[in-house]
Amino acid sequence: MTATPPAVSDQQREVEDQLVRKVLASFDGTPDARLKEVMQTLVRHLHDFIREVRLTEAEWQYAIDFLTAAGHITTDRRQEFVLLSDVLGTSMQTINVNQQATGDATEATVLGPFFVDGSPEIPLGGDMAFGAPGEPCWVEGTVFDTDGDPVPGARLEVWEADEDGLYDVQYEDDRLTGRAHLYTDDRGRYSFWGLTPTPYPIPHDGPVGHLLGKTGRSPMRASHLHFKATSPGLRTLVTHIFVEGDDLLESDAVFGVKHSLVKRFERQATDTPVPGGRDLAGRSWSRVRFDIVLPKDPAAEKGGSRAIRA
Ligand code: BEZ
Ligand code: FE
Repeated sequence: MTATPPAVSDQQREVEDQLVRKVLASFDGTPDARLKEVMQTLVRHLHDFIREVRLTEAEWQYAIDFLTAAGHITTDRRQEFVLLSDVLGTSMQTINVNQQATGDATEATVLGPFFVDGSPEIPLGGDMAFGAPGEPCWVEGTVFDTDGDPVPGARLEVWEADEDGLYDVQYEDDRLTGRAHLYTDDRGRYSFWGLTPTPYPIPHDGPVGHLLGKTGRSPMRASHLHFKATSPGLRTLVTHIFVEGDDLLESDAVFGVKHSLVKRFERQATDTPVPGGRDLAGRSWSRVRFDIVLPKDPAAEKGGSRAIRA
């Protein structure tokens, strides 16, 4: 679907080609081979892009102003560059390239900007909502490796928005709600109380939201609950589960939905026995099952992964 580049004269093409060759050559002496490969390929694609769309100087200035605004709005609680990467699908594509499908391993999706290190630990069957408003949801499953063996002691980080679509880090105060970590038992099983996920918009009061508005795109994310699963020797999984029947599954603003991650959240009648005998004071609740399969960590097997050295 690449547009045919507009015709330019041979003389003009030579001027442009010469610049690309010069910029590429400026990286020839890069000692780190991976950095050299990444930079030279980036330069090639960037110059191709500029030449293909015949980018105007005003448009380039607009792009600089956009990135400057993204920098200005970014703080330790608001990451506009991650949002930009997400809405361009580049976060998901990087995940696709790196978390390659293996057997029945659970698929990965975006981390998003609302993961926070240092969440409180809850026991199995505990409540990660910590008072965040929403319908209680019982979440349970087992963590397996790709041989089908349960994984005891796997660490699960879970986090989600409240029923108003807000994460705790978006509250005005420093309350910590809607996030926790827990460990699987000796048979790889886990369970906790969360909230039935509801749809919410990604932060759209900054340059990324402006871009979505200008391009007629919605900022809404499909309803989801985040998971990060870690266990020594196994590939770390960052993923979500999505709600079967959600209208937004096909139009998620960050392209995060994978069909294998869509789960049935079963709404329970108020007289259904409640796991752990929790007193829900007659409120409705739901339940969902999510078994997780972690493949061996190829980096651990090879003793390291490919990366640019800082
Ligand atoms: C989230 O799910 O929390 C999220 C992911 C990407 C962008 C914004 C929010
Ligand atoms: Fe989220």
